Amino acid sequence: MSLLLNTLNIIKVMANFFLRSPYALLALLCSFAFLTATADGGRIHIIPEPVSVTEKPGAFVLRQGTTVVVEGDSLATTGTWFTGQLRELTGMPIQQGRGGKQAIILDIVHQDKSGIHPNGYSLSVTPSGVRIAATDPAGIFYGLQTLLQMIPAGQAPAIPCADITDYPRFAWRGLMLDVSRHFFTKAEVEKYIDAMVRYKFNVLHLHLSDDQGWRIEIKSLPQLTQHGAWRVQRTGHWGEFLPSLSDEPATYGGFYTQADMREIIRYAQQRYVTILPEIDIPAHSLALISSYPNLSCTQRPYPVNAGAHAPVREDNALCIGNDSVYMVLDKIFTELAALFPSEYIHIGGDEAYKGFWATCPKCQRRMAAEHLGNVEELQSYFVKRIEKMLTDKGKKLIGWDEILEGGLAPSATVMSWRGMAGGVTAARMGHAVVMTPWDYCYLDLYQGENTVEPPTYGMCRLKDSYTYDPVPDSVDEKMILGGQGNLWSEEVPNYRQVEYMTWPRGLALAEVYWSPKSARNWDSFTGRMESEFHRMDAADIKYARSAYNVILTPKRGPDGELLVSMSTEVNGLDIYYTFDNTNPDPHYPKYDGTPVKFPFGAVQLNVITYRDGHPIGQQVNIKQDELAKRVDQGRHEY
Ligand code: ACM
Ligand code: ZN
Repeated sequence: MSLLLNTLNIIKVMANFFLRSPYALLALLCSFAFLTATADGGRIHIIPEPVSVTEKPGAFVLRQGTTVVVEGDSLATTGTWFTGQLRELTGMPIQQGRGGKQAIILDIVHQDKSGIHPNGYSLSVTPSGVRIAATDPAGIFYGLQTLLQMIPAGQAPAIPCADITDYPRFAWRGLMLDVSRHFFTKAEVEKYIDAMVRYKFNVLHLHLSDDQGWRIEIKSLPQLTQHGAWRVQRTGHWGEFLPSLSDEPATYGGFYTQADMREIIRYAQQRYVTILPEIDIPAHSLALISSYPNLSCTQRPYPVNAGAHAPVREDNALCIGNDSVYMVLDKIFTELAALFPSEYIHIGGDEAYKGFWATCPKCQRRMAAEHLGNVEELQSYFVKRIEKMLTDKGKKLIGWDEILEGGLAPSATVMSWRGMAGGVTAARMGHAVVMTPWDYCYLDLYQGENTVEPPTYGMCRLKDSYTYDPVPDSVDEKMILGGQGNLWSEEVPNYRQVEYMTWPRGLALAEVYWSPKSARNWDSFTGRMESEFHRMDAADIKYARSAYNVILTPKRGPDGELLVSMSTEVNGLDIYYTFDNTNPDPHYPKYDGTPVKFPFGAVQLNVITYRDGHPIGQQVNIKQDELAKRVDQGRHEY
């Protein structure tokens, strides 16, 4: 009944200003859109799911006279950002104003009185206006992200009435972008920031150095960017590229000048994102070593790696017995500490091949002088020395979980990637932890059936990311700062692929890191994800629809025959298949849950998913031999 009254009310208001406003027709359409939307049930689809949402009847309709009222100087940039977003989304000339009817009010309030959590917000939408209150500007910004998601994509701008209370579960909600293996421009990094803030991520970790390229200007070490930022151009399948020829020009690469980086940092700050810089040492350092060859144990001249399999083992680790290494690192960290406002600097520390240290005279002398029993302790000595260097420059050290080996530096924070175990150990030792276990958080892995995906090296399905929890049992949640999704870019050669690999797994992780654990619900999430896909389409952001593809699970039957089970990640889909090489549709056999067997003579299974009579997944064509190989290799699901 209230729905009906409300609808009549809206139509009355619309009719009233139909005669006066050039936007009247649009507004009238809004009221009809509102009618249809309510008839469909829930109208609010937010990712990450807020702490509490109470839907109310009615809608606030954006119109020509709507103003954005910004209370206080601390919100000036955010207010300008938001008005720009609204104009872009609706095409309406919405301006900031001082009040009046039909306003969207952004209000910073005192924490003691409001009960609003730090970085949280309360959002109230009524037919006559919108109010977002928070105790800090970031909270207002997050409230605005929610509000923007409440404007239906591609429809009239009617925002459903509701009361929403929200705040983050974790303070650290990150994405990592590897700009070394492939370089992404300043404009692309800023575009990535635009996309991540839609989902309330607040840390962008930039992997700025590796064997394949050095990406940040260090003024006192010009070779790093004149030489280390460039490699020979290769296209094709990463890891199988031809190594650099002796006199081949190094033309692929790029770097951020410090001025570029200051612009990125400022762009990020205006969107409440911290840029976390990573310089990966002591290994993954070939771009540095290629620029200054005296810094490795072997002191051999190597080219910057171009994604090739090296014919000999490259010495990509710094000689940590050599004092010159510490002098160079001091120069690098002095400049980085001055450039980046982040309280942390990430020093990598992962996957160090220690074989050269074991035979290098300088490294051996260092071990003897410092009474170090093995090369693990030598790495630990190195990390502790870098920790002191960073502390002296006012920064905290964070590194991959290998920094635990040989003894953890006293104040180090651990980023746990080889599963959760490193994070658990560090948390129990009283160290802060950021969780990024590869099998749930690595965005460079396959998102579904691999025959229809670009090549990579492992599997992390959307549901794996969604169902993971960053706080293992028996660990104090206070020690877990939060987590990240990590996009390594070996097999991500362009920005469209950055987007494809990040979304929608990034949506799942956004919810893991922001929303209360109790709010997680797979079917609800996949429904909300579809609303987001419409918004991403409107914003021309690429994303993967792999979660709609079939999952094939082959196994051997009692007589050694191959049996194939079929399922889907998203629920409610129909699976059609054929063994006769034709393209299946709803006139073909529908999978009924009983594993299927290849008929005599059949060599290929073709499968496609449908929903409500329409194809929704990609067709997968797969040979019996490939499925048999997966069984034999113990890879059951892709
Ligand atoms: C890593 O994936 N090597 C941190
Ligand atoms: Zn050495």
